[in-house]
Amino acid sequence: MSKLRMRILEINRESGRFFYKTLISPEGEPGLSYFKGRGLDPGTIKHFGLGYAPESGFGLVNHLRKLGYTKEELLQSDMVRTSKKGNLYDRYRGRVMFPIFDLRGNVTAFGGRILTDEKPKYINTSDTPVYHKSSGLFAMNLAKNSESRQLILAEGYMDVIALHRAGFTNAIASLGTSLTEEQARIMKRYADEVVICYDSDDAGQRATQRAIPILKAAGLRVKVITVPGGKDPDEFMKNYGKDGPIRFRQLLEKGGTDVEYRLQKLRDQFDLDTDEGRVRYLSEATRTVIAKLRNPMEQEVYAGRVAQEAGVDKDRVLETVERLSKQE
Ligand code: CTP
Ligand code: MN
Ligand code: MN
Ligand code: MN
Ligand code: MN
Repeated sequence: MSKLRMRILEINRESGRFFYKTLISPEGEPGLSYFKGRGLDPGTIKHFGLGYAPESGFGLVNHLRKLGYTKEELLQSDMVRTSKKGNLYDRYRGRVMFPIFDLRGNVTAFGGRILTDEKPKYINTSDTPVYHKSSGLFAMNLAKNSESRQLILAEGYMDVIALHRAGFTNAIASLGTSLTEEQARIMKRYADEVVICYDSDDAGQRATQRAIPILKAAGLRVKVITVPGGKDPDEFMKNYGKDGPIRFRQLLEKGGTDVEYRLQKLRDQFDLDTDEGRVRYLSEATRTVIAKLRNPMEQEVYAGRVAQEAGVDKDRVLETVERLSKQE
């Protein structure tokens, strides 16, 4: 590994330590109360190495300079930025901090959340010589040790933390960015099945539709669950309190495949109580879902399903699929 990369990894490790120490010091009181307010206990904070970046804007820079890191190294790590006057200042100020670890346990990046509802809510390390956003997965370093060959894919830091606390230590987050092929490839090393559990808002549901083909192309089986009674898994766990873990387990057990999820999304668009609605549902489902399935068994099964839902013969659906495939 290059000297620079080594130095950046050291800077990151030191920064993580600094943020943690600050969090549990008097200066970190705003951060600690924030985490407490979100239901995190000291054990969880330590487990995930959470921290607090002081308001001042020079705490980390001074600390790292004292340890002998050069201006260039600090800039390359993206932990600091330069002011117009050419002075270095801390990139993260007055934010609670979430370290991102690579698979070897190096701290490669950070996310920092503001304590209020100001924007931007989160800022994250940009690409550096040791970190590429496109392959970053929060908590993959922990989830890779879980027994199962299944991963639960959530959107955000707090979702993963809530899921791990509820016993789902196979949860990871793609960090809001739309899922990439690289991320899917990393998941495939540790899993055969991914359960997407993105936020139930429109953004989350659109991201789910985009993630499905990417995960399948990487050779993963895909299931989708959407949490009710809350917008994301963190809110779900909060709303259900001590029943959260068991309720989430139930969701996982009845979670549908990616195909079922996509058919459900279509059914939501049409009124299946009318002839017109059924015709349109059947046409759309056949053209956009069934005809695209590459596995003939899967095609047969789901052709039967939509035919039954629309009250027609399965052969009509399969004939249409065949006709569509000839037009291609
Ligand atoms: N995100 C980001 N920058 C933003 C907003 C979001 O990097 N300005 C990423 C973060 O990793 C965040 C994830 O996208 O965790 C999901 O975004 P969102 O659902 O908006 O945030 P939550 O994770 O629900 O954040 P919180 O519960 O702390 O409000
Ligand atoms: Mn590189
Ligand atoms: Mn979201
Ligand atoms: Mn949330
Ligand atoms: Mn969310």
